[in-house]
Amino acid sequence: MKKVRKAVIPVAGLGTRFLPATKAMPKEMLTVVDRPVVQYAVDEALEAGIEHIVFVTGRNKHVIEDYFDIQPELLDTLTRAGKNEQLASLGRLQPMPGTISFTRQQAPHGLGHAVWCARDIIGDEPFALLLPDMVSYGDKGCLSGVMELYRQTGGNVIAVEQCDPRETASYGIVGKGARTGSGFTITSMVEKPAPEAAPSNHYINGRYVLQPDIFDILDTQERGAGNEIQLTDAMVRLAQRQQFFAAPFEGRMFDCGSKDGFIQANVAFALARDDIRDTVLEPIEEMLVSRRRLSQAA
Ligand code: G1P
Repeated sequence: MKKVRKAVIPVAGLGTRFLPATKAMPKEMLTVVDRPVVQYAVDEALEAGIEHIVFVTGRNKHVIEDYFDIQPELLDTLTRAGKNEQLASLGRLQPMPGTISFTRQQAPHGLGHAVWCARDIIGDEPFALLLPDMVSYGDKGCLSGVMELYRQTGGNVIAVEQCDPRETASYGIVGKGARTGSGFTITSMVEKPAPEAAPSNHYINGRYVLQPDIFDILDTQERGAGNEIQLTDAMVRLAQRQQFFAAPFEGRMFDCGSKDGFIQANVAFALARDDIRDTVLEPIEEMLVSRRRLSQAA
């Protein structure tokens, strides 16, 4: 079994759900507490043992590249001001030279097309894929569980969670087969099915380990749901000759590409921090109390 060394993080999406905030700034740079959304995906990948990150970017995303580079002026200023804590925190975020690559998706043809754009950099080895809008919250990052199941089963592994059965049309949905290792065998996959056509309520939550054979399939993948080249459709074709397993995620994913998920993530991550928990929680509690009073009075 080949080791999973590289991870693809697609960051080319336009972020229309977040306009006007994303008019001049990539949605991946919106902050959850004090770190950009994309940093959470990178940290999760590194925690899971990934050695090289491949970003699939687009026009107007160069600030992501700058974010992962060093900033000599900023480092000088912090050094002169003796701001050692901030310096150390920047140092911890800094990827080693040569461990990060950028390639561009030149037009928004869908997730399948974005992944296909990374094919030359990935080469002939299995790779992880993290959709950065989905921010993982829990004791262990979601990708660690996917990698764990991959070490048990090989093949292709996808993280899943259960959604409200009425919401299957928002996600890729998998059919549930026999229990296998720490997960289960996937019997079918379908992108954004109506509830009556969904094989289950187990949805694909944005973390994958895939075999490189997916690239040959993506070469000829036709457009699917939303008139986009869908990764799920290519995985369905790959599943005709390779196994797919699901790794249920025990933590929680926040969809930071949506306004409510983004705000929930900010609250959850703030409440997990000793330095700001109380000052965030108290006013929220007060707001909830006065909201309840208002609705009782109405
Ligand atoms: C993509 C995938 C879908 C998955 C979802 C998770 O959809 O195609 O299978 O469930 O991410 O966020 P998108 O959200 O890009 O429409």
